Amino acid sequence: MSPQMGTKTGTPKPFALTPVLTANWAQPRSWTLAAYESRGGYAGARQALAMSQDEVIALVKNSGLRGRGGAGFPTGMKWGFIPQGDAKPHYLVVNADESEPGTCKDVPLMLASPHTLLEGVIISAYAIRAHTAFVYIRGEVLHVVRRMQAAVDELYANSFLGPDVLGSGYALDVVVHAGAGAYICGEETALLDSLEGYRGQPRLRPPFPAVAGLYASPTVINNVESIASVPAIVSGGAAWFRTMGSEKSPGFTIYSLSGHVTTPGQYEAPLGVTLRDLLHLAGGVRGGHRLKFWTPGGSSTPLLTAEHLDAPLDYEGMVGAGSMLGTKALQIFDDTTCVVRAVLRWTQFYAHESCGKCTPCREGTFWMVQILERLEAGDADAKDVDVLLDTCDNIFGRSFCALGDGATSPVVSSIQFFRDEYVAHYTGGGCPFDPSAATLFAAEAGAAR
Ligand SMILES: Cc1cc2nc3c(=O)[nH]c(=O)nc-3n(C[C@H](O)[C@H](O)[C@H](O)COP(=O)(O)O)c2cc1C
Ligand code: SF4
Repeated sequence: MSPQMGTKTGTPKPFALTPVLTANWAQPRSWTLAAYESRGGYAGARQALAMSQDEVIALVKNSGLRGRGGAGFPTGMKWGFIPQGDAKPHYLVVNADESEPGTCKDVPLMLASPHTLLEGVIISAYAIRAHTAFVYIRGEVLHVVRRMQAAVDELYANSFLGPDVLGSGYALDVVVHAGAGAYICGEETALLDSLEGYRGQPRLRPPFPAVAGLYASPTVINNVESIASVPAIVSGGAAWFRTMGSEKSPGFTIYSLSGHVTTPGQYEAPLGVTLRDLLHLAGGVRGGHRLKFWTPGGSSTPLLTAEHLDAPLDYEGMVGAGSMLGTKALQIFDDTTCVVRAVLRWTQFYAHESCGKCTPCREGTFWMVQILERLEAGDADAKDVDVLLDTCDNIFGRSFCALGDGATSPVVSSIQFFRDEYVAHYTGGGCPFDPSAATLFAAEAGAAR
């Protein structure tokens, strides 16, 4: 165990990384079709196109793959909701908006290996009987949009896309669409509005996208990592996929470690490993410091502390610890970080990104920023912390979409674990932390936007 982990128990148990999605990232020109095929790429697509659509859906259902976009909904079950034999067109939409603070897995995946995603798109679109698929990419990552478009062009030029995909008789068109860089457009129904050319705001459900999604037609929306996992499941089989992870959270996944960690980056491992395991691989918290708090899956997931280093990083394990797995964006904060300042920065993000459609989120995030700013400046008093909690109470469960709920997570969890630090802010006349450490965090928070 690294002495810098700041915990009282345990030596990390040895575990193996399971590079599947990341296996070819270090290969020269890994993003080209030639490099991808040289490692067996598109064998899964060929295999799937020789199966019936229902067989492919059953395989993904049996694998137990759960959506990697945050909520962990079973992917095969979602595909099974698409009506069969109806006269309407079906659509597959890949959610590549990736804007949750700290989340950094879909962008590197698309940059290093766009064909892993596109092979998944072919299989998934075929399974749900769609002939058009969209990849909706966050607008700011222009280099990723270009790389995805180049990969799609390569596929058309080699008849992997178009009227006769890989000589199977199945027709598929793929459209790469760049969003304008709004966090709310990662919410699946806001994404659909944005894709249709409207302002991106969440839709009322029901009807759910599986019944009336894009252009009021049955639509499956899945995260990049979910779709990119499908080719390996087809090639390796459901039983192989289930050799990794736990019964309810099977398979491999990409964990992104960022912040005050010695070696930040993407670590692909089975679901259910712990932060202690991952920190061991990543060289621990940066030299001379101790872990103070962390997010398991981006800023919308409640903060955890060193007490939770041994909680399994899977859907059930994180709920058991009082948080959520989310996007597996593990942001690590050491003892130089002011938790009030960190929460202020996140809350400013939510206030800025609130789409304004509903009152609790639009007004609540604005007022939370005012209070947190007062705390940082030393202008707050004892009742402000309770007002913060009361505001969260009025946002959580009363907002139109999950952005509002997510905005309350850092506030409530930080007060739960670090109330003394909030008190120190209003009794001590402001932030007691070294501003140079805070500057480091501010730069990182800015870069994450
Ligand atoms: C504010 C907000 C932002 C979201 N951003 C993303 C995103 O960038 N990427 C993503 O896959 N899911 C995002 N989601 C979740 C999607 O609504 C949806 O659940 C997900 O795309 C489903 O894919 P999956 O089943 O493969 O996980 C977001 C949700 C909310 C409320
Ligand atoms: S919760 Fe926030 S982002 Fe979601 S609809 Fe309401 S105002 Fe918009």
